Amino acid sequence: MNNNTFLICLSIFFLSCNNNSKSKPSQVVIDPNPTSEMADLMRKMTQELKQVKLKLESNENIDKNLFQFALIHKQHVTDSSFNKPHIKPMSLSFGYAIDNFNTDPTTTNYNIIINNCKSCHQLSCQGPLMIINKLSITENQL
Ligand code: HEC
Repeated sequence: MNNNTFLICLSIFFLSCNNNSKSKPSQVVIDPNPTSEMADLMRKMTQELKQVKLKLESNENIDKNLFQFALIHKQHVTDSSFNKPHIKPMSLSFGYAIDNFNTDPTTTNYNIIINNCKSCHQLSCQGPLMIINKLSITENQL
């Protein structure tokens, strides 16, 4: 996939998260796809994880303390409907998965990060799940 295709996919997935316009009939949507702090962070994480996935798959050495992501629950979101009660606990749990990978960068710990992405997205916003599923690494059963 080239970069443009990727961006187009992102926009499509993103729009599928933002389908709550019915609740605010008085708002005119000028830019249907604004970028929030949170969305920016999500894109950055997706890019970085993709690169690390390639390295893990080719058995390259992974440096410790590779991921320095901002706390998800401290980011401003595109739409206040994303501010649900599960965000903070799941963001903290995601943070532990990141710390864990940073100290011990193995494929198993990488997949734990991706599982955390999935859990939150199942509750928050299912659009990006297709992108997230692609980030998982199938571990060989040895
Ligand atoms: C704690 C909950 C949570 C976790 C964990 C989480 N996300 Fe998200 N993600 C969200 C929310 C909420 C949005 C919508 C943000 C917005 O539009 O302001 C989002 C948006 C996205 C988007 C769409 C961004 C865009 O372009 O609009 C992608 C892609 C994404 N997440 C990927 C990931 C990946 C990959 C991970 C794991 C590394 C992850 N997410 C972990 C809650 C989460």
